[in-house]
Amino acid sequence: MKCNITNKNVEEIMSFGKMPIANGFLNEKDKSSEYFYEMTVGLSPDLGLFQLTNFPKVEMMFHDKYPFFTNSSSYMRNHFKKYAEWISKEFIENNSDKIIEIGCNDGTMLENFKNNKIESLGIDPSGNVAKIAKDKGLNIINSFFSENLTYSLNQFKSKTKVICAANVICHIPDLNDLIKGIDKLLSKKGVFIFEEPYLGSMINNVSYDQIYDEHIYIFSAISVEKVFSLYGFELIDIYPQITHGGSMRYVLARKNEYSKSPKVNKILGEELKKGFLDIDLYMRFKLNCLRSKERLNDLIDLSLKKNQRIGGYAATSKSTTILNFCSINSNKIDCIYDTTPEKIGKLSPGSHIPVIDSEEFKINPPDTCLLFGWNHKNEILEKEKNFASNGGKWISHIENFI
Ligand code: TMP
Repeated sequence: MKCNITNKNVEEIMSFGKMPIANGFLNEKDKSSEYFYEMTVGLSPDLGLFQLTNFPKVEMMFHDKYPFFTNSSSYMRNHFKKYAEWISKEFIENNSDKIIEIGCNDGTMLENFKNNKIESLGIDPSGNVAKIAKDKGLNIINSFFSENLTYSLNQFKSKTKVICAANVICHIPDLNDLIKGIDKLLSKKGVFIFEEPYLGSMINNVSYDQIYDEHIYIFSAISVEKVFSLYGFELIDIYPQITHGGSMRYVLARKNEYSKSPKVNKILGEELKKGFLDIDLYMRFKLNCLRSKERLNDLIDLSLKKNQRIGGYAATSKSTTILNFCSINSNKIDCIYDTTPEKIGKLSPGSHIPVIDSEEFKINPPDTCLLFGWNHKNEILEKEKNFASNGGKWISHIENFI
């Protein structure tokens, strides 16, 4: 598939090679029919939009067996509680205000509004997670968000005060359609708030594993401002976040409805100065990705030479990019420890490393462990502090991270 808003004029940056579906954990019997696509990224210079130039159909990624549950991280549960409290404080004025969450997953965020007595709606295309949210008593539609869907949402049309999303907007290929849908639902003073992994953090950390099929775009303040201004919206505020290894929260409103925080121009200026609209920045990123691949393979080979057993921690979607880009498979990594029942007992996509219950990590730890869940570092290192104190060694594909 190609992106809708920018398929003209995208300059190719690099290919990460053949990639499977990032969350496509599979059974042994399905190995021979596994789907692969070539994962390439590019930049649309007019919008400064960093994006996949080729990716699978969205139905292959978001379906009734989607194995990601927001609720699985206690840190993220707390983050969404605070996110919801902040929205209530800043934007909800009275009981007649309405809120919609796009990509509500298991309802972890939306349930925080239950006590607010405001009308809320969650929309999510993955049936299994949407069912969990429904079972919490939330008002949920199991569907992709689209302009078309808004025709069946009369009670929210032009009346919604807040539309919010977290780690979702980058999943939606057709930004034209998304923004037209948002435009239909928001009230005059309505705001659209979303947070996503931040392009600046990805470039700084060389955390290229932010790039996978579900992350069609990695946004910056510049790209958000430029894309939304095509539809009469402006960026009115911006809040850096530490989640997912460096994210950004964007607040958008109809032009001239709110005053703009000085932070917006400050961050836009910093991005311009760093070259976010300049392809050279991305060519340097490409070189850093290739160096990072070499460094990780050297680290792993060093451990293997010492006859050490290597494991991976957290079967994240990001791990699919690392393992496939770096050509690391079960000859090098024994297993990946994870808490998700839907992943345990399966093989990692493409690299076919067995995923086992993270309880095993305590019983029979490896000598060296590659931390795939690096964005949950504090939570995991605290939970598994005995590993390092008993001589275990954490490693990461991000230099100087551990
Ligand atoms: P994600 O980065 O694709 O969201 O996946 C997070 C994965 O990390 C998910 O499979 C659960 C796993 N995980 C653990 O196994 N242990 C942990 O302590 C945390 C925080 C996550």
